[in-house]
Amino acid sequence: MARQAFIDSIKKEIERIDEAKISKRHEKVIEGFTAHPSPRAIIDGKEVLIFNSNDYLGLRFNKKVKAAEHNAAKQYGAGPGAVRFISGTLKIHKDLEKELARFHSREDAVIFSSAFALNFGVIHTLIKGQSKDSLISDNTLVISDELNHRSIIDGIRVAGLNKENKAIFKHLDLEDLKRVLEENKGKFKRVVIISDGIFSMLGEYQNVSNLQLIADHYDPQYEEGVMTIIDDAHGVAAFGKSGRGCEEVTKGKCSILLGTLGKGFGVDGGYAVGDKIFMDYIRESAATYIYSNPISPGTAGAALEAIRLVDSRSGSRLINSLNKNIAYFKEKMIDSGFSFAAFSKHAIQPVLIGDAVKTKALTDELFQRGILVTNLNYPVVQRGRDEIRVQLSSLHTLEDIDLFVKECSEIAKRLEIIK
Ligand SMILES: Cc1ncc(COP(=O)(O)O)c(C=O)c1O
Repeated sequence: MARQAFIDSIKKEIERIDEAKISKRHEKVIEGFTAHPSPRAIIDGKEVLIFNSNDYLGLRFNKKVKAAEHNAAKQYGAGPGAVRFISGTLKIHKDLEKELARFHSREDAVIFSSAFALNFGVIHTLIKGQSKDSLISDNTLVISDELNHRSIIDGIRVAGLNKENKAIFKHLDLEDLKRVLEENKGKFKRVVIISDGIFSMLGEYQNVSNLQLIADHYDPQYEEGVMTIIDDAHGVAAFGKSGRGCEEVTKGKCSILLGTLGKGFGVDGGYAVGDKIFMDYIRESAATYIYSNPISPGTAGAALEAIRLVDSRSGSRLINSLNKNIAYFKEKMIDSGFSFAAFSKHAIQPVLIGDAVKTKALTDELFQRGILVTNLNYPVVQRGRDEIRVQLSSLHTLEDIDLFVKECSEIAKRLEIIK
């Protein structure tokens, strides 16, 4: 059969991936946790201390969050039953959207099945319109930070813009953003600037306040103005005194803020918040919102409770202990002779190793010693900037961090990463 040739090509592609040592399909399977809450998972029957989870506040284990999930499932069933505009809009979805709008001080919010789906839907519809009849033409310039997340890059890519409608500014370099805005005056009707809030590989943050000031300055110089979109997936419920992310830390406010419920909030799903007019437009036109099921009622109930928790005293305590852990970790690692690939105040801490083979050897041996952490090599990071990405949580104790630093230092000395 001719299709055998296609299957052979696929086989070859998998072999290429394996040979390049960039395979991702051999996933570590978590069989359970030693307790709820706990950063200790069971993998292959063995206890493993997790240092690479996005559940920065341990909310996925929270009793109230789990009870809210259970109660919502009891009231509405296990799934939404349909997409939103058919019969899949449940009151719990509307309650969650209201709560998200309140949390971020915006007029309205829209939830998506994931932040990845959110980026595909929102970016496409804002820069390309819904269909060929749309009144939103593609006379838009999209300007993106060069280290934006894959979901933003692909979101822009699938919108199918011409090359000249896309521009990149140097990572975190707002002078370079100004240059792009200056050079393109008179060439486009409108501009959409898109950036990560917290950058997921390095833990750095975009200064939303300064970025917005630049957008405001250039706004009158384009016929339909300059909009800003910030994807703060890692910032919400993790960064800033009250967990409002990069907007809180930099005292800024973008046009449309994107977030996820699947990291700091400990649940699942993506969301956009902003003025009602933008949210109405997204509901009318974002394909990944319209033609895909929303999160399940249980997930919505859990997320609603997680947001309330972040805003409570116990939420403040969790954020405080996360920040203490971050500071303690940095101090201990520096004392041990490690350096960082970037300056990060966030729970993502990029420990610079600078060699792909040693990075892999280090994380493999850490795993053998019961510690799970992520190694990042080229092409995910620049050549020679290989790192282990450590993600701290409020669930870690100082003893957990001491153990990590001790094991990591022992191995790194032997591998001649540190002296
Ligand atoms: C910046 C950013 N945006 C979006 C996503 C996707 O989030 P989700 O898991 O909700 O699809 C991620 C997850 O890694 C991310 O880091």
